[in-house]
Order: sequence, then structure tokens, then C-alpha cells
Amino acid sequence: MRILHVASEAHPLIKTGGLADVSASLSRTQAEIGHDVRLLIPAYGAVTEASPQLRVAVETHLPGLPGKIRILEPGTQDVNYKIWLLDYGPAFDRAGNPYVDEHGAPWYDNAERFHLLCLAAVAIVRDKQLLGWTPDVVHCHDWQTGLIAPLLADEKRVTKIFTIHNLSYQGIFARSTFLSLRLPETLWGIDGIEFKGYMSFIKGGIVFSDWITTVSPTYARQIQTSDLGYGLEGLLQHRAARLVGVLNGIDYEEWDPRTDPHIEYHYDADDLDGKRLNKKSCIARWGLRGDENTPLFGFIGRLVEQKGVDLLIEALPTLLQAGYCFVILGTGDRGLEKRLREIAQSHRHRLCVHIGYDEKMSHEIEAAADVFLMPSRFEPCGLNQMYSQRYGTVPVVHHTGGLADTVVPVTPENLAANAATGITFSPPTAEALISAAQQAVGLYRDPRTWRSLVRGGMRTDFSWRHSARAYLSLYQKEGA
Ligand code: ADP
Ligand code: GLC
Repeated sequence: MRILHVASEAHPLIKTGGLADVSASLSRTQAEIGHDVRLLIPAYGAVTEASPQLRVAVETHLPGLPGKIRILEPGTQDVNYKIWLLDYGPAFDRAGNPYVDEHGAPWYDNAERFHLLCLAAVAIVRDKQLLGWTPDVVHCHDWQTGLIAPLLADEKRVTKIFTIHNLSYQGIFARSTFLSLRLPETLWGIDGIEFKGYMSFIKGGIVFSDWITTVSPTYARQIQTSDLGYGLEGLLQHRAARLVGVLNGIDYEEWDPRTDPHIEYHYDADDLDGKRLNKKSCIARWGLRGDENTPLFGFIGRLVEQKGVDLLIEALPTLLQAGYCFVILGTGDRGLEKRLREIAQSHRHRLCVHIGYDEKMSHEIEAAADVFLMPSRFEPCGLNQMYSQRYGTVPVVHHTGGLADTVVPVTPENLAANAATGITFSPPTAEALISAAQQAVGLYRDPRTWRSLVRGGMRTDFSWRHSARAYLSLYQKEGA
């Protein structure tokens, strides 16, 4: 099959979160299975800077745009699928984050920028002359690609898939923006992309795609409720027969404690010595006062409300008081960053806070920590709880979304069957987090039980094998 993925980020070229890991590793797995896969993303400044030998694959006018768009190809592609980068004047070629400016506010022209990404994808699908290639399937990811399906509504040759990685980001803009983008007036209205008087990119993907997927079965159910549906639950219920939860996989080459170039000591489920050594070495490097027996907790993630960072902040004083060590890596909300820094200042030897994005450190934390905390209020899938399990780091997670689907909780039955892989808690409160963390330490102090949890996680199959095939069979399903 010829598959075109369209996304706003892809690892390692540009990444703010899990979408980048998924767009790249899903593309790679589908190509490995033998399909012809292309991945279209914007040519952000950071991307072109990191890809010096860019080749112009095509330069062309698109209807309604004053200048020409260019599709660029990195000269050296060390992946088995093809990456296409969309370039258009200053739309993407600017410094900073793909979505927000230096003050953390959404770029003023996000609607125009991602409309452009959609227009380019539509041109690739419709015009065989453009790149000498058209797809059988166009697989769109998140709101930034939400206008592709509506703009291809009359195109029956191509199967349209829309994956919701996070329903809380919807791409909502004013009616005046809809008008200025010169979208077909037929798209305005309840059956189109209008949502409560505004234009909604994500609604386009939901209404007009052949299949809607989201990244875990539990989240697929949750978004059909008022709790996590953000007003779209009725529409999602209406489309329930076309809505499927496909659990994300993880990249087994990128995240492998036996070979990971980012970590000092390698290890596997049969020989965990390397993990102990990583912990020792990192504790020293991060300036923490602790030894092999001090429980070391890790957290990595975007510092936003979704991730329950405020719960963690509330829980930290009690847990620090108990003598545990923490390493926290993240960036995001300035207020949350500040509060974390403040706590770190008064607990220098127990808490290492690193504000920023650091790929290497994220691998080191997974390899060194004993316990990984994910108190997310909601989590469509979540990748770090899977990376953690692969690295023998026991996850403590709020029982929600993909976290509920990938962590087998400690219960007397699961422990007896050697099936447990982590600790889940609910509701998402600081108290529940504290007691789950304390439960983890209790188990940690019992080496036999701990080994069973660690090994259970390390032996679980989180590869893309099943999920990549699940997508492929969806592409071929009748009625698509
Ligand atoms: P989300 O997509 O909601 O941010 P996921 O758990 O799906 O959450 O994916 C987050 C990804 O981003 C993981 O690969 C995680 O390691 C990475 N990540 C998040 N914040 C940072 C950071 N500050 N430094 C390095 N990697 C990070
Ligand atoms: C989103 C979600 C996260 C998911 C990721 C990749 O950003 O917040 O839960 O793992 O996308 O699908």
C-alpha cells in the first residue's frame, strides 16, 4: 500500500511530545512490513537547520496562495520511508516551538500555517504529476491535519484515516478566519467544521474521515463521555462505529536498554547490574544525596495540567520528607516551571529539576530511576510508562486512558500470578499519588516482589508489531 502520513512533528527532526515518536516509528514499522510510506511534516527552522543537504522535490503554486510552496527532501534519509518537508516562505521557517511563540502564546497565524499543511497534502493526494506518487491511504494526525479529509470529501480513491492523539487540542478559530482561509462555504454548519459558532480543525477530521482512531481503547471510550469529550462526545458517539482505539507501540530500536547509546551501562531483564550502575552514576551527576537503597523517582513530560504536574508539586514535600530522591525533566507552563525550581532550591540534594528539553537525559532517567511517576489527569496513550517498563522502571500511574491499558496493577491476584507491572491510583489527587508512591516504596523494599514487577514490565511486548498491523487492516476494511 502507498501510505501518506501527515503530522506536525516527527522524531528526531522535531518533537514536542509523543506525536513525534508515533509518526516516525509507525511510518518505519509500516515500511518494514513492506509498504511504501511517506511522511509529510512542515519544514520548521529547526528541521531545515538539522538537515543540511536538502533537495527540492517540487516547487509549485497552490490555488489561492500568492507564493510557491516547496516540498523538500533531506539529502540523507537514514530511514526506510520518505520524509517530505513543506516549506512556504516564513510560515514554518522561524525559530522556536512549532506551535507557540517565545511567550508561550500560539503563533498568531497557526490557522494559516496548518491550513497550508492540509492544502499541500491535498495536492499530493490529487495530483499525480506533482511528485509522481499518490497514496492509497492518507493518514492524518491531530488537529493540524483536520482539514485534509473535508477538502478531500469527494475523493473516493483514497482512504482517509484521522488519528486523535489528544482531543484537548482542537484547532478552534473564529468565523472570520474561516472566511479568510476561503474554505468552501459548504463546510460551514453543523455537518461541517463549524463548532459552536467557531471553526474547528479537529471536527473536520472526525466528520469526514473513513475511520477515526485514537491511541488507546480506554481513551476511545472516554472521549465519548462528557468528562473527556470537550463537547465533541455527541459527535464521537454518532461516529462510534467508525471510531477505534489502537494502542501506540514504542520504538524498540530507540528505546532498548541493551544498546541505548544515551546510557552509560547496558542491561537486560536477566542481568540488571547495569541499571544499578546507571542509578549510582546518575545520582552523583545530578548532585543527589542518596545511595543504591534510596528510592529514586523519575518524571519526564510536558509541564502542563494534563500531566498532573500540580499534583506532583503538592505531593513532593511529603515524599521528600520521607527521604526519597527525585529527578524531574520537563518544560512547559512557566508557572509550573517556577514552582518546581523553587522546591528544588530548598531540597537540592533530594530533588533535581531540569527545565528544558533533553533527549539524552530522558533516556538516562528511564535507565536510572526505580519508579516513574505519571499522575496524568488524562492520558490518551502515554509513552513514558512503556519506556519505563522496558527499562525496568516501575510506573506509578493514574488509572486513565492508555495508562490503564498498559500497566497491569499490583493486586494480590496479579502479584500471585507474576503479572503485575506497576501501581495505578485513582482519583487523581495528591493524596492518592502520595499513597501510591509510598506503596511503591513498600514493594521496593521487598526485593523478590520488586524483581517480579521489574521483570514483568521488561518482558511485556510494547513493540509496534500488533498496532501497525491493526492500522493496516483498518486501511483495507470494507466501507473505508
Ligand atoms: P505527550 O505526547 O502528551 O507529551 P507522551 O508520553 O505520549 O506524552 O510522549 C512524550 C514524549 O516526549 C516522550 O518520548 C518523552 O520522553 C518526551 N519528552 C517530554 N518532555 C521531554 C523533555 N523535557 N525532554 C526530553 N523528552 C521529553
Ligand atoms: C498525545 C497524548 C499522549 C500520546 C501521544 C502519542 O500527545 O497526550 O498520551 O501518547 O499523543 O499518541
